[in-house]
Amino acid sequence: MIIPSLILLVMAAMPWVGRWRLGAGFNTVFVLTLGLGAVVLAGLALREDRSNTEYQAARRQAHTEAARARELVQTAGGIPETGALTLLRADPLLQGPRLFARHCASCHRYDGHDGLGQVPTDAPSASDLKGFASREWLTGLLDPQRVATPHYFGGTRFEAGRMVRFVQKDVAAFDDAQRANLAKVILAVSAEAELPAQREADLQDADAIAAGRELIRTREMKCTGCHQFRVPDEDAIAPDLTGYGSRAWLVDFVGHPAHVRFYGRRNDRMPSFGRDEILDEQALGLLADWLRGDWHRPAPAVAATRPSPHGKSDASPVGVEVTRLNLPRPTGRLSSAGDPRR
Ligand code: HEC
Ligand code: HEC
Repeated sequence: MIIPSLILLVMAAMPWVGRWRLGAGFNTVFVLTLGLGAVVLAGLALREDRSNTEYQAARRQAHTEAARARELVQTAGGIPETGALTLLRADPLLQGPRLFARHCASCHRYDGHDGLGQVPTDAPSASDLKGFASREWLTGLLDPQRVATPHYFGGTRFEAGRMVRFVQKDVAAFDDAQRANLAKVILAVSAEAELPAQREADLQDADAIAAGRELIRTREMKCTGCHQFRVPDEDAIAPDLTGYGSRAWLVDFVGHPAHVRFYGRRNDRMPSFGRDEILDEQALGLLADWLRGDWHRPAPAVAATRPSPHGKSDASPVGVEVTRLNLPRPTGRLSSAGDPRR
């Protein structure tokens, strides 16, 4: 506070000081010093921004969001009557990561980060949900080496739970034939999710998936000894595998993980986001769609002719409208980073 006041005082006195020769010299040196100081300070701030990875991640995120907003308006053929915001608010790719960072990343991770690209300082205390219910995710869950790592149950009270014990004892002792059968079971459970990215693969492996559905029930694979699968089973003590990872399953699970169909009374800390009205149906749906990789993608032909973000075509009325939109941000300090032209 003192230095700016002093500078102001000196500047106010400049016209009088400048009447003497020595004073004029002083004024010149003073102004030059101020200018130099400003340049040095700006340089320092710039360097700090560059090295500030949090800022960089948020900036990258802002660029991605602006590009996505343009893409959405273009595919919609312009801004709808209800305004561009409705378009943005209904987009899983834009809203999913924000909702995740805000409500889920205190325990979970998404590919190691909080959904928006930042890595929380606290260690994760629940699974990494990138690719949830995909073949890869389930293969890791049923891997004796991985099931008790923080990527899966390692951070939870199920670190030494029944599933971990089953995988580390029973599955670890599987012979080659049983491992081949387990691979089919994984295909079958994953197919319940009907993930858009696996549509082709699921069609191709239809026979193995059908075999896997039968194997789930066998005494050899044991799954339905604890889980319910497609046939109602009141004695099931483990989360329902019927429709596992589908949109409906995820909306129901995140809405109420402590429901008997899922973790019941053994639920470990995860809030019942729907039942307790922390998130509404739309938010639950957006999260489910985003986790499932289920959002609108422009046809390749459209994408190819899409104007480059740096090209002249940015001046199209639609492009300008969208890039100027003040998207709601998770943190206040980055609001200026929303404009990709900065
Ligand atoms: C307070 C910690 C916490 C928060 C916050 C939390 N979860 Fe969980 N979540 C868990 C735990 C612990 C489990 C393991 C099963 C259980 O106890 O319900 C879990 C399980 C899951 C599962 C099943 C896969 C698995 O690892 O068992 C999904 C899907 C899931 N959470 C999604 C979410 C989403 C989406 C959000 C945010 C809307 C969220 N969770 C917020 C702690 C949390
Ligand atoms: C001994 C009982 C038991 C057996 C056998 C068993 N599970 Fe589990 N499973 C559980 C329990 C209980 C949980 C919840 C975590 C815990 O309490 O350990 C679970 C969790 C899971 C989950 C994660 C659910 C979530 O939170 O998203 C999947 C997927 C799963 N099991 C699949 C299978 C498959 C596939 C098989 C058969 C190859 C199988 N389980 C065999 C008891 C079992």
